[in-house]
Amino acid sequence: MFPKRCGTCHAAAMHPSVTQVAPLLGVWRGQGHGSYPTIADFDYDDEVVFTEVGKPFLHFVQRTTISGEPRHTETGYWRTVGPGEIEICLALPTGQVEVGIGTATATEGVLSLETEADDYCTPRAKYVSRTVRRLRVEGDTLTYEVLMAAVGQELTLHLRSTLTRVQS
Ligand code: HEM
Repeated sequence: MFPKRCGTCHAAAMHPSVTQVAPLLGVWRGQGHGSYPTIADFDYDDEVVFTEVGKPFLHFVQRTTISGEPRHTETGYWRTVGPGEIEICLALPTGQVEVGIGTATATEGVLSLETEADDYCTPRAKYVSRTVRRLRVEGDTLTYEVLMAAVGQELTLHLRSTLTRVQS
């Protein structure tokens, strides 16, 4: 058993399985670029927050703005299910939920994650069937790509973003 509580600060101790993805923790801000064959390219301001509560998952929230106006947001869990193995369970207010599996690999100070997910859509949502996410953390820099198969298109890049950790 690992200690549930740190005796000095009363914060929950990190779950051992979360240590493999601990470089993701914190508040990240940066700029992203979006594209898709069916829409015009766009740039966005990006905020991503990963937190842990002593359980075998990270909580994840993303908030984006374009010209200061709120745009896409999403939230969910990155579950640490085994050594190098993760699962994601994410919800989007545009009517999709994303559930899938992935890997986490740490090599020479770089944490790389790749997930592949099926998407389930509410009846009136735009149709998204599959999503692939690639994340890379090196020090205080987080980069990610999101590819999706949606609205009749094959798996294609939708987002690419680079963020800096502004709070641990
Ligand atoms: C995994 C996350 C995301 C999914 C599954 C997703 C999905 C989609 C889909 C299905 C479309 C419609 C394409 C069409 O109608 O031809 C779209 C459009 C768009 N997405 Fe995303 N998106 C995601 C994340 C984001 C993020 C982070 C932004 C940042 C601002 C963003 C901004 C946009 C914009 C500006 C459009 C075009 C206009 C619109 O439909 O609002 N998306 N996205």
